[in-house]
Amino acid sequence: MGLYSKTSLLILLSILIAFPPFILSQSQKPCGISVYWGRNSEEGTLRDACRARYYKYVNIAFLMNFGNGQTPVLNLTDHCSTCTELLRSGIQLCQNVGVQVFLSLGGSFGNYTLSSRQNARLVAYYLYHSFLGGNDPSFVRPFGNISLNGIDFDIENPGSNLYWDDLARALSRFSKPRRKVYLSAVPRCSYPDHNLGAAIRTGLFDYVAVKFYNNPQCEYTWGDASRVLASWNVWSSSLPTNSQLLLGSIAFPATGYMFPSQIVYEILPEIMSSPNYGGVMVWDWYYDSLWSHSKSMYQHVCQS
Ligand SMILES: *[C@@H]1O[C@H](CO)[C@@H](O)[C@H](O)[C@H]1NC(C)=O
Ligand SMILES: *[C@@H]1O[C@H](CO)[C@@H](O)[C@H](O)[C@H]1NC(C)=O
Ligand SMILES: *[C@@H]1O[C@H](CO)[C@@H](O)[C@H](O)[C@H]1NC(C)=O
Repeated sequence: MGLYSKTSLLILLSILIAFPPFILSQSQKPCGISVYWGRNSEEGTLRDACRARYYKYVNIAFLMNFGNGQTPVLNLTDHCSTCTELLRSGIQLCQNVGVQVFLSLGGSFGNYTLSSRQNARLVAYYLYHSFLGGNDPSFVRPFGNISLNGIDFDIENPGSNLYWDDLARALSRFSKPRRKVYLSAVPRCSYPDHNLGAAIRTGLFDYVAVKFYNNPQCEYTWGDASRVLASWNVWSSSLPTNSQLLLGSIAFPATGYMFPSQIVYEILPEIMSSPNYGGVMVWDWYYDSLWSHSKSMYQHVCQS
């Protein structure tokens, strides 16, 4: 081997060491922190959440009642849910600073169920024309003429676990090349999720944020990350390839609580190399702003 080829081999090697291929591809993938807004009247406006600059995704919570012919109810706790212009301009600010905004369906208090495939398609039609790119004038648009980026499925206690996959399919059919309808799901960490398993298996979800709290079988207990990591590995290896996986964390001391430093030093180094790693989800903005959860970790969440 001549001097010339040895030199080029060394150059190639040093390039590979400096920029391993997996980091190159990783950096092009979506990654960031996602947060929930709307569950506490003391938390400030949506603008405040997006101006905090830690987030890549904000979920407006919740569309609490829907399906089976019910009149949909948007419940933003004591935030004004009929202040269209305020909400519209807040969402616009978020999108202008690069934050994707989702409407979150469900939650733990609502009354929601899908009664058939046809009902799932009707709910998708309602969502598309009320919150996304649709313009059927027979629907009121609570956020005015702004179009959200997508829909988040937080299906915790539905009347039935059926037809959520049909809802995902019907929503994704509204995607346009120039305006994609993003889909996000927040299952519990015990795999598979009873309510969302079939929907996630469609492969249509861009983001799957697994909740590692309020789930003793797979959550963090002081100093012991093993259950979280074991569950993460199951999710990571079973997820359809085009879904990004996020670590769902809670920002106040509850079961499964992880300090930001524990997330950064004990969990992230173990999960960031998963091919579908997509960041961290935080419940919720109110506690996050009080306890500086995202502030303490956002610089470590995505490989640069
Ligand atoms: C929930 O909605 C169903 C209609 O889908 C209705 O029959 C039922 O009374 C509601 N339950 C509550 C607790 O509001
Ligand atoms: C909104 O949801 C909260 C629970 O988070 C509930 O206490 C409240 O009654 C709901 N408001 C309406 C108008 O349904
Ligand atoms: C959307 O509505 C706002 C006021 O609510 C208006 O200023 C703006 O021009 C509208 N944009 C479009 C594209 O219709």
